[in-house]
Amino acid sequence: MPFDGFDEADHLLNRERRQEDADEATLRPTRWAEFFGQQRVKENLQVFIAAARTRRDALDHVLLYGPPGLGKTTLAGIIANELGVGFRVTTGPAIEKPGDLAAILTNLGDRDVLFIDEIHRLNRNVEEILYPAMEDYALDIMIGKGPSARSIRLDLPHFTLIGATTRAGLLTSPLRDRFGVINRLALYDPDDLARILVRDAAILQIGIDADGLDVIASRSRGTPRIAIRLLKRLRDFAQVRGSGRITRDIAEYGLAALDIDERGLDAVDVRLMRSMVEYFGGGPVGLDTLAACTGEDPITIEDVMEPYLMQIGFLAKTPRGRVLTRPAFDHLGLPCPPDHEARLKGLGTALRNGRPLSRANGSGPVQLSLEGLEDRAETPADEGEDEGEEVP
Ligand SMILES: Nc1ncnc2c1ncn2[C@@H]1O[C@H](COP(=O)(O)OP(=O)(O)O)[C@@H](O)[C@H]1O
Ligand SMILES: [Mg+2]
Repeated sequence: MPFDGFDEADHLLNRERRQEDADEATLRPTRWAEFFGQQRVKENLQVFIAAARTRRDALDHVLLYGPPGLGKTTLAGIIANELGVGFRVTTGPAIEKPGDLAAILTNLGDRDVLFIDEIHRLNRNVEEILYPAMEDYALDIMIGKGPSARSIRLDLPHFTLIGATTRAGLLTSPLRDRFGVINRLALYDPDDLARILVRDAAILQIGIDADGLDVIASRSRGTPRIAIRLLKRLRDFAQVRGSGRITRDIAEYGLAALDIDERGLDAVDVRLMRSMVEYFGGGPVGLDTLAACTGEDPITIEDVMEPYLMQIGFLAKTPRGRVLTRPAFDHLGLPCPPDHEARLKGLGTALRNGRPLSRANGSGPVQLSLEGLEDRAETPADEGEDEGEEVP
């Protein structure tokens, strides 16, 4: 499909951080009481933190993974805060050489938290320094060259590494295995998003009523960062087109103006789904083919667009590729081929019969049980176990 001039950088629903999220710091919760949703993750972490505090030892290393905007950075900060220790923040690509990491590690205080965002982008030779550091709190350094070279071992403080990534599948297994606590963040359900919005609206002093909240919460793709963005944009509509307060009418008017439909889908999602119907009869189609046809980046499709389409039950991943479901056809107002459901079931059966799943290039189709697809639309917090393979 030819590029139609839609500016990707302007994609309101883009879940990556952008300039307008600059005041995220004022909204970012610092205590558990302000962190809503992700109940299981939260309860487990609270236990581990309490235990570590009682033992007066560092918390085990924690890996947080899931789509952008769901609260990974926020959680890391809360963990450090609740532990009452220092918090050092960096990102995978910022640590270029082993020496950079060594400098960070030797400067940590006892039990401090080191947060490495985008940890899947660490250099391999930097990563190797991390293994003994995580496992034995030690740093192995080579001194001298040639035959006289020897390695000495430096002791490091007991620290906690918190790694965050949107792509757990790209972590090497030695790195992954060194995390004692692995948490996947799921998309939020509208109730939790509404709680988040109430708090943020109060901080930003935005007037909003219950219906207005409902509308935003149900159209934010289960993502707090998007909910916050929509809240701010709708404030503008309320000021200019309304009484200053976000009501249902204002919210619906504003979202229509922003080209976001009742399910929270925007023009880019709709174009993706339409291409699947137009060129592939609804699927199955492989990720790379789909990316090539739509001009979208495969990583954006996989990390940002698909999780939500799957959550609302519009898209399924099968061993043979992505498939649209009947509700997606209905939503687009396009006729669903009569044998579509049967074909979907066929693909699911092949899967359940234990056909090997290929993920050779990391972007192949991922397993999805087609059972319970109906339920998935109702229970957004439960995004399915499709990524279970990536992080066992
Ligand atoms: N569970 C939550 N409760 C309240 N606010 C949240 C929650 N998760 C995320 N947020 C809000 O969303 C914003 C984006 O979250 P962030 O931690 O930066 O996401 P990630 O690091 O996963 O991309 C934060 O600034 C915060 O205001
Ligand atoms: Mg982050």
